[in-house]
Amino acid sequence: MAKGLLISFEGVEGCGKSTQLALLAEALRQRGVEVVTTREPGGTPLGEQLRALLLDPSQTPNPWAELFLVLAARAQLVAQVIQPALAQDRWVLVDRFADSSLAYQAGGRGLPWEEVRKLNLLATGGLLPHRTLILALPVPQALKRARLRLSTAAGNRRFEDEEDAFHRRVEAAYRRLAQEEPQRVRWVAADGPPSEVHLRVLDQLEDLLP
Ligand code: TYD
Repeated sequence: MAKGLLISFEGVEGCGKSTQLALLAEALRQRGVEVVTTREPGGTPLGEQLRALLLDPSQTPNPWAELFLVLAARAQLVAQVIQPALAQDRWVLVDRFADSSLAYQAGGRGLPWEEVRKLNLLATGGLLPHRTLILALPVPQALKRARLRLSTAAGNRRFEDEEDAFHRRVEAAYRRLAQEEPQRVRWVAADGPPSEVHLRVLDQLEDLLP
């Protein structure tokens, strides 16, 4: 029987998650699955406005203010896009979700882990992804990629310009998540050609695929 599933992609800047999300969406459509793709923060008109505020390089939000911005965008995305799609048995692929707040606001910024976890659950109405794929690339390699992209496209300076230690704390938080919730959260090596990484992604979803 068809069943809606929520799959999130996570990782440090430049890990290639957007490419992998697109490859998975295509593979699922070929298997006849109805797929909705979206991103965080964003994915709704309100969420995209909140994203612009979050990434505005002229602002330095207090870490709690930063958290509440992403939570507001998340609450709106769940209500307006994710829950309706799941109710129609669609698969929702989301580029970042609640685990990003644990990685960036708890890990990176140092907010208390347990409080962020609880606030996430409030914002999502208790919804967690059915599976979360952390695309893991050594931090220096990922940052090099992200900063190259930044020099050519409209980028995300507020986070990408953070010191390397910030990104290592983000990575450590992702490792903690993968250890704490091994059934839901999977570590996927993201080095090598995108087509190879895609096969690793499919491996981690094997039990869910139609
Ligand atoms: P994203 O568009 O994924 O940026 P990139 O493609 O450069 O990885 O996300 C934008 C930024 O928002 C990213 O640097 C991480 C940050 N972010 C948080 O700090 N907390 C959150 O909960 C989310 C969803 C994103």
